[in-house]
Amino acid sequence: MRRLTPSWIRVPVIFFIIVGLVEYFVDSGDQPAFIAQPIILLFLVLVLIILIGVEAIIASMENILYQSMDEEAKVRYDTSKVKTPKLFIWIRKIYLKLLDSKPIEQEGEIILDHDYDGIQELDNNLPPWWLYGFYATIIFAAVYLLRFHVFNGSNQYDELKTEYANAEKAIAEYKKTAKDLVDINTVEQLTDATSLANGKKIFMTNCIPCHKADGGGGIGPNLTDKYWILGGGIKNVFHTISEGGRDGKGMIAWSKSGLKPSDIEQVASYVLSLQGTTPAEPKEPQGELWVEESPETPTENATQEMDSTAVDSTAVEMK
Ligand code: HEC
Repeated sequence: MRRLTPSWIRVPVIFFIIVGLVEYFVDSGDQPAFIAQPIILLFLVLVLIILIGVEAIIASMENILYQSMDEEAKVRYDTSKVKTPKLFIWIRKIYLKLLDSKPIEQEGEIILDHDYDGIQELDNNLPPWWLYGFYATIIFAAVYLLRFHVFNGSNQYDELKTEYANAEKAIAEYKKTAKDLVDINTVEQLTDATSLANGKKIFMTNCIPCHKADGGGGIGPNLTDKYWILGGGIKNVFHTISEGGRDGKGMIAWSKSGLKPSDIEQVASYVLSLQGTTPAEPKEPQGELWVEESPETPTENATQEMDSTAVDSTAVEMK
């Protein structure tokens, strides 16, 4: 049957368009969608079967129609021409325009009069696609020359510098907001004055009814001694403050009562800064003596060193 494309081209083309669309719209991470979700493979197989089925039905219907025609109609059908689609005609016209070459029948008009052993030369016009491309490069070169050599536009080093500065800004911005991403694994005991001052403010607002302003303890335990019911050290203290104490004791989970992780990190650091101070009316020690594990264990040291080199390696030397 005479359609523009044979079915062995049409079916795969439509099929792969559908595969592409599925891949585009289904979020399947870095795996192809039909591997990540086998149901999609089933869907695609069904689509393929349906496409082939449709082709088969159309072909057999055409065949039936053809067979039911009388001889004269068959001949007319066989000799009728497939109409070239408008788009193809248009593309061909544009192509010929871009070449601007003489058709072979008119070449006699442009033949040059020299002749070397039968080799002759045509004086064709320059193809417009080439000519205008050439003009474009001239304009580009002029603009380029003015911009970068006369007016000293920013070169690659400058661009690197700007991008670097932007990236540093973005990192600073990220760190500001990422503060609240601290959790039990990343929490650190802060020692800078601002953090401790913030921690103190939070402590004074929320904690003194039970722990007293100097941490000496009341309803809650003494926070200045080395004895901890729920464990000392920044991680345990952070955990206690965010998740609360034992049920019914009165120490609530402050992460659920409006303190952000960064607040808790600060107030926990403040609480630990009270270690060793002498409150006015200290409550007797409760819990167990907490001995801080030495932070200078070899493994930690190693990772710290690795960290510092990792930081260094991001420092790009700039000229
Ligand atoms: C309603 C009274 C109350 C308030 C308010 C309160 N606490 Fe407590 N806190 C307690 C009690 C009671 C305990 C003991 C919990 C237990 O035994 O499980 C405790 C335990 C603690 C502990 C663990 C002490 C240990 O020995 O393990 C820390 C740290 C702590 N509180 C910090 C705070 C901070 C910081 C605040 C303010 C954000 C605060 N608390 C507010 C009553 C309170």
